[in-house]
Amino acid sequence: MNSSSEIKTVSIVGASGYTGGEALRILLAHPFFRVQQVTSERLAGKPVSSTHPNLRGICDLKFEKAEDLSECDILFLGLPHGESQNRFEEFAGKAGVLCDLASDFRIKDGALYEKFYGHIHSAPALAEQFTYAVPEVNRQEIGVAKHFAGAGCIATCSLISLYPLFASGILREQRAFIDAKIGSSATGASPSPASHHPERAGCLRSFQPTGHRHTAELLQYLPNNGERPEVYLSATSTSEVRGILTTAQVFVDPQRTEADVWGVYREHYNSEPFVRIVKDKRSIYRYPEPKLLRGTNFVDIGFELEPETGRLVVMSAIDNLVKGSAGNIVQSLNIRFGYPERLGLEFVGLHPA
Ligand SMILES: NC(=O)c1ccc[n+]([C@@H]2O[C@H](COP(=O)([O-])OP(=O)(O)OC[C@H]3O[C@@H](n4cnc5c(N)ncnc54)[C@H](OP(=O)(O)O)[C@@H]3O)[C@@H](O)[C@H]2O)c1
Repeated sequence: MNSSSEIKTVSIVGASGYTGGEALRILLAHPFFRVQQVTSERLAGKPVSSTHPNLRGICDLKFEKAEDLSECDILFLGLPHGESQNRFEEFAGKAGVLCDLASDFRIKDGALYEKFYGHIHSAPALAEQFTYAVPEVNRQEIGVAKHFAGAGCIATCSLISLYPLFASGILREQRAFIDAKIGSSATGASPSPASHHPERAGCLRSFQPTGHRHTAELLQYLPNNGERPEVYLSATSTSEVRGILTTAQVFVDPQRTEADVWGVYREHYNSEPFVRIVKDKRSIYRYPEPKLLRGTNFVDIGFELEPETGRLVVMSAIDNLVKGSAGNIVQSLNIRFGYPERLGLEFVGLHPA
């Protein structure tokens, strides 16, 4: 669909949260989207700047209750897991396009969903109406999507870096071991005992050595030749606020060289506007580093091959709230509506940061 200059109205449910707030920040700067309403049950009647101080003087909207939503073209849902699957009819009645930032509609295989989420989906058939919003691996479907399922942040970071390797036949086995290090904003704005400053500050804490939910997305969306790939994901909290660094280990055939790996990434990502291969011989930042990506929609990928064993270590970094959430969806909307893909996502980051 192409409708370049038509302005679309967008509302955000759960706009007081971190992903909702980030969606708001990005959409406010987008020339073809007009933010119509933002909701928070807790803060209804208060200005958005009361909880998003970066928007002082930029946005004069006040939070409203979700029951007061009017119709709009596009509705973002930044709610805790489980809300959107239970309230689909309510939200679909308000907008032609839903953008769910939660994990409610990412997994199409009911058994896989149940295994990783620990309960049966309340409306499993709905996932078929949603398109997984990671342009680097799902561009064609995004172009004709009805609704969007935003990807998990760790899943986005690992999937984009591993997808070309799994698709190319360069790997000895379709198997990856992934260590994900993640900042505190990934757990959202609501405090918990584990996020209390004395407990969290300075931490380097293994919080999910096995069974992380984002494993399900990798099992579903990594390319396979009829058999599910093997994915072993462990997650560790760091004391950073934003950012994810994944370090994945895969094995390539012994005769393969780093030139082959470069070739695979070039073939897949040469024209991707937000993917950068970062592999410098000398600079301080030789490999991907999340702090350089704060506020940006980039995914930086680096790698190093151990020739004697065939072990290929793949590093990948993103900002969990941008490429790992709202930014990925805005990029997908740009593709869907025929807008330039970088629109609203031009921020290049800061240095020093
Ligand atoms: N944080 C990340 O890095 C990240 C990345 C990708 C995806 N996600 C997913 O995105 C979703 C939102 O995450 P977040 O980090 O933005 O969470 P958050 O900061 O905790 O925000 C949650 C929002 O949902 C609202 N809310 C909470 N409980 C509600 C309920 N029962 N009914 C209606 N509204 C309710 C809150 O509004 P009130 O003001 O009314 O309390 C708040 O606006 C989650 O499903 C998360 O898994 C998060």
